[in-house]
Amino acid sequence: MPSLSWFFFTTLICFLHVALAGDPYVFFDWSVSYITASPLGVKQKIIGINGQFPGPIMNVTTNWNVVINVKNGLDEPLLLTWDGVQNRKNSWQDGVLGTNCPIPSGWNWTYQFQVKDQIGSFFYFPSLGFQRTAGGYGGIIINNRDVIPLPFGLPDGDITIFLTDWYTRSHKELRKDVENGIDLGIPDGILINGLGPHRYDDALVPAGISYQIINVEPGKTYRLRVHNVGISTSLNFRIQNHNLLLVETEGSYTVQQNYTNMDIHVGQSYSFLVTMDQNASTDYYIVASPRFVNSSWARATGVAILHYSNSQAPAAGPLPDLPNQDDPYLSMNQARSIRWNVSAGAARPNPQGSFRYGQITITDVYVILNRPPELINGKWRTTLNGISYLPPSTPLKLAQQFSIPGVYKLDFPNRLMNRPPKVDASLINGTYKGFMEIIFQNNDTTVQSYHMDGYAFFVVGMDFGVWTENSRSTYNKWDGVARCTTQVFPGAWAAILVSLDNAGIWNLRAENLNSWYLGQEVYVQVVNPELDQKEFPLPENAIYCGLLSSLQSEQAHKFKFSGAPSISKKHRRILIMLLLILLGTFIR
Ligand SMILES: *[C@@H]1O[C@H](CO)[C@@H](O)[C@H](O)[C@H]1NC(C)=O
Ligand SMILES: *[C@@H]1O[C@H](CO)[C@@H](O)[C@H](O)[C@H]1NC(C)=O
Ligand SMILES: *[C@@H]1O[C@H](CO)[C@@H](O)[C@H](O)[C@H]1NC(C)=O
Ligand SMILES: *[C@@H]1O[C@H](CO)[C@@H](O)[C@H](O)[C@H]1NC(C)=O
Ligand SMILES: *[C@@H]1O[C@H](CO)[C@@H](O)[C@H](O)[C@H]1NC(C)=O
Ligand SMILES: *[C@@H]1O[C@H](CO)[C@@H](O)[C@H](O)[C@H]1NC(C)=O
Ligand SMILES: *[C@@H]1O[C@H](CO)[C@@H](O)[C@H](O)[C@H]1NC(C)=O
Ligand SMILES: *[C@@H]1O[C@H](CO)[C@@H](O)[C@H](O)[C@H]1NC(C)=O
Repeated sequence: MPSLSWFFFTTLICFLHVALAGDPYVFFDWSVSYITASPLGVKQKIIGINGQFPGPIMNVTTNWNVVINVKNGLDEPLLLTWDGVQNRKNSWQDGVLGTNCPIPSGWNWTYQFQVKDQIGSFFYFPSLGFQRTAGGYGGIIINNRDVIPLPFGLPDGDITIFLTDWYTRSHKELRKDVENGIDLGIPDGILINGLGPHRYDDALVPAGISYQIINVEPGKTYRLRVHNVGISTSLNFRIQNHNLLLVETEGSYTVQQNYTNMDIHVGQSYSFLVTMDQNASTDYYIVASPRFVNSSWARATGVAILHYSNSQAPAAGPLPDLPNQDDPYLSMNQARSIRWNVSAGAARPNPQGSFRYGQITITDVYVILNRPPELINGKWRTTLNGISYLPPSTPLKLAQQFSIPGVYKLDFPNRLMNRPPKVDASLINGTYKGFMEIIFQNNDTTVQSYHMDGYAFFVVGMDFGVWTENSRSTYNKWDGVARCTTQVFPGAWAAILVSLDNAGIWNLRAENLNSWYLGQEVYVQVVNPELDQKEFPLPENAIYCGLLSSLQSEQAHKFKFSGAPSISKKHRRILIMLLLILLGTFIR
């Protein structure tokens, strides 16, 4: 991970691994606040976690209990969401507006959840107000338990890589533009781990930009966990002269195949094994390029460096080739080639494919059509099936808990209705233990990704054109990969199957921030009618807002923030000792 000059000391104030009678607990203490950095040579206010951007990696193992005390040092409300963490029976911890009241500026809130029965590579990010475009994100690694072998040799290193389309405008300016229907335009750059491009071309990249260098040893094999946490740009990822052996995506081990490059859409995560099998005559370029765009976007190319310890020269030559930008079938075929390794174990020792999703009867079908932004009642909004979701001021979960009527309706339509678009809080009424088929039909002109909280779903098919019942004959009913974010190409559809076994109210959203921000989301309510299998109770520390704000008392634990990185206790002690020594010399 990058060691940035403005970042002083490490971030986990406490990392305890207490082996109690049950599953272990791990504690994190995170201060979220603005820091100043210039990833593209222009000074910006960026959201850091404990002074770090990207934030610290949450590195945990299946079934661990995670406790994270989040202090909001921003000047606006905050929620962190854990993209891909399933929070079984515990949507109270999901960190989106339908499940939680936002943490007010200057307050803290402690999340607690168990990473139950899952493995894989995910990330967290601030879910409100376009904040993700200013940072605040970091990696989540959920390791296999020791008793369950990995379906590949233990890698010699584990490296997280964040790719983001980046603008020098602040998140507040960007969200204002989106509200006003202004296209965000070409990104000012693509960041790799929060850093700008290597100066591979003097004409395109100004001098003085610091870039990511990944140091490796010849002959070793590393696991690269690569995430696109950007706003709306699909990115093509590749490493000069090196193969990417795909092994995992968003919690599922895949059939292991080599790729020379991979299209990673907004919100998606992949693990690749990369073997350092070159003779290190030079360093090598690591590249992330905007996909399906014209040549004027080339100036926004992300470039980092892969540096062998015995490298003899800087990286040289042209950047590795991009696939044909005008052939979307290439990308669709690549997506279709990603398959589940049905014989590998994952969170449990039994094969991933022991859940025979292709043989289960479908109980509900939703064909969900998205449209590009349009004016509804004079405001720019995006819709799913003609409905633009507007979060009620009272979170859905609290309204459900306190039986407050009228906050939301369970009437989200199965298909686009023949009626004008509207703004509403309309939910999908999921059937507990039902098996739902969702077809996303993308009527926009750009790639969109859709993500579901609380679940992994099977991606069983995608194609260009309009989905019909006959499209089902093309479904992969055997080894479609289970993941939590699927891309949907423009003018195309993607079909997913999901087993509704996780009670709660779960967010289903566009990962593309501009689409999401203008209303492209819906929640799925899943109620378990059996009492003994109930969801977790309302957390004791729940924050109240909206119609329930009278239940909330002023927070006792107020604290002061400075923009500067916090100094750990150990370092404070060292500082005090230094001061005392200095004082001592003076007195003498
Ligand atoms: C994560 O923690 C495990 C120990 O639980 C350690 O072996 C591994 O190296 C850590 N991974 C990273 C990326 O820090
Ligand atoms: C805020 O943090 C303090 C400890 O710093 C903790 O005791 C308290 O429970 C936290 N508040 C909430 C609402 O989580
Ligand atoms: C699938 O997983 C098994 C079991 O771990 C492993 O031995 C095998 O190599 C994997 N197969 C492919 C094609 O990746
Ligand atoms: C992937 O490519 C590497 C060379 O980079 C090769 O050694 C390996 O056998 C290939 N693996 C597969 C599954 O094709
Ligand atoms: C290895 O290095 C030599 C020069 O030392 C170069 O000619 C050759 O092309 C290199 N091979 C590879 C695979 O990079
Ligand atoms: C290239 O794309 C940008 C943004 O999508 C657009 O503004 C511009 O007009 C396009 N240029 C050409 C030559 O098509
Ligand atoms: C929601 O679905 C459940 C069955 O899963 C049903 O009992 C209930 O009446 C439905 N509610 C509404 C408002 O449609
Ligand atoms: C979606 O797009 C297709 C092709 O552009 C068009 O024929 C169709 O009318 C659109 N549907 C809606 C509901 O916008």
